[in-house]
Amino acid sequence: MILVTGGAGFIGANFVLDWISLVGEPVVNLDKLTYAGNLETLSVLSGDPRHIFVRGDICDRGLVESLLEEHRPRAIVHFAAESHVDRSIHGPADFIRTNIDGTFALLEAARLYWSNLAAEHKAAFRFLHVSTDEVYGSLRPGDPAFTEAHPFEPNSPYSASKAASDHLVRAWYHTYGLPVLTTNCSNNYGPYHFPEKLIPLMITNALAGKPLPVYGDGMQIRDWLYVKDHCSAIRRVLEAGRLGETYNVGGWNEKPNIEIVHTICSLLDEIKSDLAGSYRRLVTHVTDRPGHDRRYAIDARKLERELGWKPAETFETGIRKTVQWYLANPQWVANVQSGAYREWISKNYEERQ
Ligand code: NAD
Ligand code: DAU
Repeated sequence: MILVTGGAGFIGANFVLDWISLVGEPVVNLDKLTYAGNLETLSVLSGDPRHIFVRGDICDRGLVESLLEEHRPRAIVHFAAESHVDRSIHGPADFIRTNIDGTFALLEAARLYWSNLAAEHKAAFRFLHVSTDEVYGSLRPGDPAFTEAHPFEPNSPYSASKAASDHLVRAWYHTYGLPVLTTNCSNNYGPYHFPEKLIPLMITNALAGKPLPVYGDGMQIRDWLYVKDHCSAIRRVLEAGRLGETYNVGGWNEKPNIEIVHTICSLLDEIKSDLAGSYRRLVTHVTDRPGHDRRYAIDARKLERELGWKPAETFETGIRKTVQWYLANPQWVANVQSGAYREWISKNYEERQ
């Protein structure tokens, strides 16, 4: 079996769902269920003995140690994190705690468990750390895409905390020999994405007839990957990645934010037209994010060359599936738009002009 952390969040839950249906190996899913964790996403697994959910904190080393002893996993796949850049600007403390202290606690628990394994299990064990392209900082127009050799230049409390966790993982390999792998992925989108992030926020706001808040000029560039492609990349790296290596994961889909928003509006105009006119009428430019990274782009050639991984979706197919998923799942959206969600939306957007 494997231990997954953060498996009730957006990517972790997609990973657990795909893992159970495609691989079938049991999963212990350790998640604190912060505002971003949602067991409803995993409801199809209720009663399935291959999914053992544990509500708990990765910072709780004793808990992690006892889970490892009890379930004896062959791998840890570490998703748990505070993940939203805007929240890290409003309150960085949780990011330092979970992303840095939490990864440290997990590494130490893993090291203790791994060091006591029999030789055969010790050689097969893996600790896969899921990270982000944001650790590399921001690119200028015309700069080549980030390779794994790009220096770390994080600019937000979120990306700085993820960069710190990447360094810890690297050090645990070099110092203690813990068999680690790290993936640095670009922006994900797809089903079960919490509607505080650009794509689900734009879809859900448009459907509710609310403004579509584009930060600054909307010409910031992100490199978009359908979440199920990220999950397939993680499975592949876990299976065949070289120990101690980092692998960039991306979809070769660089697009300015305003183009993403216009694409969503056009898809909604086509699938669910609004009598009041095109959804584009709702686009509203608002005050920019402080320290906003201008451009990310991932060079994923190492993963393709060494492990033969390629994304299955283009942006056009993935975004259509995503819009259709949100249209088909209004109850999931309504359930996550709780009081706490509304408080965040007013905190983040009320001060923006
Ligand atoms: P998310 O915010 O949707 O989910 C995070 C999950 O971690 C939640 O279920 C939450 O309850 C859980 N969690 C938070 N703190 C915890 C703690 N202390 N102990 C246990 N569980 C805790 O995040 P996501 O978008 O699914 O991202 C998952 C991982 O992938 C993160 O490490 C993130 O940095 C990385 N990543 C995300 C993207 C992206 O575009 N979303 C891209 C590249 C990498
Ligand atoms: O690059 C990978 C990262 O992608 C992950 O590590 C993070 O966990 C994930 O949240 C994401 O970070 P971003 O900051 O790029 O994602 P977000 O969806 O918050 O914003 C995407 C772009 O859209 C960014 O340039 C900011 C802009 N934006 C965002 C929101 C929420 C807007 O213009 N308006 C908005 O309301």
